[in-house]
Amino acid sequence: MTQILETKKEIVNRLMEGGVLIGPEFLEKLNSADENELSSFIEKIRIKNLQELEKAANSFLHGESAVKEEKQAKSIKIIFSYEGGPKKLGMSDFIDYFNSRFVQIEKMLHNRAEMANATSIKRVKLKTEKEQVAVIGMVKNKQEMKNGNLAIMIEDQTDEISVYVNKNKPELFNFCKDIVLDEIIGVAGMASNKVIFASNIIFPDIPNQELKKSPIEEYAVLISDLHFGSKHFLKEEFSKFIRWIRGEFGTDEQREIAGKVSYLFIAGDLVDGVGIYPGQEDDLEIKDIYQQYKEFANFLKEIPSQIKIIVCPGNHDAMRVAEPQPLLYKDFAEHVWNIPNIIIVSNPSYVNFGATDNFPGFNLMFYHGYSFPYYAENIESIRLGGGQERPDLIMKSLLQKRHLAPTHTSSLTIPDIKKDSLVISMVPDFFVSGHIHRASVTNYKNVTMLNCSCWIPASDFQMKLGLNPQPARVPIINLQTRQAKILKF
Ligand SMILES: [Fe+2]
Ligand SMILES: [Fe+2]
Repeated sequence: MTQILETKKEIVNRLMEGGVLIGPEFLEKLNSADENELSSFIEKIRIKNLQELEKAANSFLHGESAVKEEKQAKSIKIIFSYEGGPKKLGMSDFIDYFNSRFVQIEKMLHNRAEMANATSIKRVKLKTEKEQVAVIGMVKNKQEMKNGNLAIMIEDQTDEISVYVNKNKPELFNFCKDIVLDEIIGVAGMASNKVIFASNIIFPDIPNQELKKSPIEEYAVLISDLHFGSKHFLKEEFSKFIRWIRGEFGTDEQREIAGKVSYLFIAGDLVDGVGIYPGQEDDLEIKDIYQQYKEFANFLKEIPSQIKIIVCPGNHDAMRVAEPQPLLYKDFAEHVWNIPNIIIVSNPSYVNFGATDNFPGFNLMFYHGYSFPYYAENIESIRLGGGQERPDLIMKSLLQKRHLAPTHTSSLTIPDIKKDSLVISMVPDFFVSGHIHRASVTNYKNVTMLNCSCWIPASDFQMKLGLNPQPARVPIINLQTRQAKILKF
């Protein structure tokens, strides 16, 4: 009993020092607690963050069930996660796949006022008189002609037609330079002699939407591209990040934020993988993929269990590179799967989080970003604007095109005849990516676009690919205000 009373006095004194007053229920519980429970509680009150302290007190007074209830309140709903497609593929599957994409994006374009009366290409080609028309088509070819004008060949399910864009319409002409192969566009113009002289080109784009804000002050933290297992993995910096999220590192303000983190999103490339690029062996500290995930899982286990960790794969993870990528393979990533607070989804995927009784939550679109380097190079305005150093321009452009990899050769794709999962079918509140190892938070029509840095400096291989990484930076979002900060570790 003496031991308990001394401990009780110590707890009361320490809480008073911290400006925390104790209610009668707490004092009563202290009298009946055994020494082990009290020691464990003292350990917990070393966490200076008040929210953590509150959780520790709840756990002490009401047992683990109180903590579990709170975990459940942090809502996560998987809206879409790819579960695998057909095993055998034939030529007709590619046709069906492109048709399914066409139908999905055609509907979006039909909703645009300029395309409300869009007709089929076959009907346009039947016209004998000059006439204003609107059509929707997939870009089959694009080239600058000798006279400097642009010729774009588009096709729909009925036929194909050439669209000419005159260089003397500089605004339209420059806009059209950013058109890429296989994307679906709307064309308005004068039909004459089985061609169209364009007066307007329309991207499906996303509509303006409300900037949703949570009624609760909680935070989402976003990381990607850890490349664990590489010799170059920034272990010291990542350890600091883990200590921060545990409330053990940073300024008082930063630690207070850490205590309010409810969600950690990881946008792929958890490990460096094996056999991803020529000569990778020389860059690996852990040469076994199973061991890479096992040791990485030990880091993840250090993250407080009340934080939901949501993970999608990237091209370095142990699975097919072709998109959509299904969930991390359990055979290799068993230890990651076994973490209780982890949720594993596909690449790409859609997740709803942060819903309460009176708030619908936020919709987040996860895409690792394998196609990004292609658009950094092949969309002129992005290439001239900074290329891979401008994930914001790449992400905005893909939102406008309503597809994560519109050009077939920009990523490896498994054609799924039922649905093209890379179509941006839902307008998200957050678009979260990685792959190009940059830290960026920007807004386009109230979609927060995040690229999530990395935990590896540039390797020789990455330098050859034109990557200029910004490692160890962590975007964090206050979900109540939608304000972002980037913490540097
Ligand atoms: Fe990466
Ligand atoms: Fe990647």
